[in-house]
Amino acid sequence: MASFNTIDDLDDAQRVLVRLDLNSPVEDGEVQDNRRFQRHAETVGELADEGHRVVLMAHQGRPGRDTFVSLEQHADILGSYLDHEVGFVDDTYGDDALDAIDALDAGEILLLENTRMCDDELPEEDPEVKADTEFVETLAPEFDAYINDAYSAAHRKHASLVGFPLVLPAFAGRVMETEYEANTAIASREFDGQVTMVVGGTKATDVIGVMETLGDKIDTFCLGGIASHLFLRAAGYESGYDRHEDLDLYDSQWEANEDVIRRLLEERRDQIELPVGLAYEDDNGERAEHTREELDAGSYDYMDISEKTVEKYDPTIRNSDAVFLKGALGVFEEEKFSAGTVGAVKAIAETDCFSVVGGGDTSRSIEMYGMDEDSFDHVSIAGGAYIRALTGADLPGVELLIDAAN
Ligand code: 3PG
Repeated sequence: MASFNTIDDLDDAQRVLVRLDLNSPVEDGEVQDNRRFQRHAETVGELADEGHRVVLMAHQGRPGRDTFVSLEQHADILGSYLDHEVGFVDDTYGDDALDAIDALDAGEILLLENTRMCDDELPEEDPEVKADTEFVETLAPEFDAYINDAYSAAHRKHASLVGFPLVLPAFAGRVMETEYEANTAIASREFDGQVTMVVGGTKATDVIGVMETLGDKIDTFCLGGIASHLFLRAAGYESGYDRHEDLDLYDSQWEANEDVIRRLLEERRDQIELPVGLAYEDDNGERAEHTREELDAGSYDYMDISEKTVEKYDPTIRNSDAVFLKGALGVFEEEKFSAGTVGAVKAIAETDCFSVVGGGDTSRSIEMYGMDEDSFDHVSIAGGAYIRALTGADLPGVELLIDAAN
């Protein structure tokens, strides 16, 4: 297996620029604590203990979404897992950021503002182009080394992920190491029996791409989340439409993927299990369900797969030799819409199969509903990157670390 340099290879007392992935669910403006903080704290704590000056970069949400917020709260949450305080500056590479970086002492930690608030961070471009941006050119001279711990964002060609490894000595953090090892092993593994993939979440475009690529490796796909609504729409049911003007979940992903969805439904229909119904909130605030024939996307927001769908997916999961789950099947954060996600995750936990649960937010359902992380072979904090690793695709952020080591 190809490898990279890790933080074990750092010289003493370095000024290190560390890319984390603290992208988290945000509810009513409040950033939700999750595994990513806990896992990244290991890398950050180790670097500070070693006496390095530690400057952290991360992103949150995407411009235009209500999860696109400042990282101020992230600093406090990360700090709660550390014996060190995590300072925060509401600037990424302007004068305020540079002053705060200069003021840092050995063993101190500073988190910079959301990288996606800088024009240079997005869109995705080649590393050489990103290395040439003002963002990278301004920050890089402040540091001796760049550390990428953001395995879960390593599929994105953004400045903070692919620009710096071209201009600074580059190393992998602890999360990068563990996730890379576990997820790469999956791509190369062979299984004797049935292989099932349970796909959900809000990033339908990602999972549809995976369904296309992995069609020969996966026997059955059980669909939930936004992808299932879009497939139901393609199959002629009333689902997968944006009902409110401020909702941008369905229509744009439908337009981007309609052809692929229709083709998959035609060519791989036997491999795809669709929901037989969906759940919504009735006028009394209670969970109610429609069969797929009853769906009415113009009048209801569907938040989970139906109980009958859970029953339908259950034996498929339990008869599998390997199960990969990516993304929640419904809005599990609300207990009344947790049946789909919890049903699938419990069935996986109770089955003697090789199991990987991925999807940045999805793994939160494990502790939220009293399950044990040890019931799974690997709980990945990555979403899109995890799923790309499953397909055997290279992750640009990882490739650059490997190149740097060579
Ligand atoms: C994630 O949460 O999966 C990563 O941080 C990538 O986020 P993105 O899909 O918004 O680029």
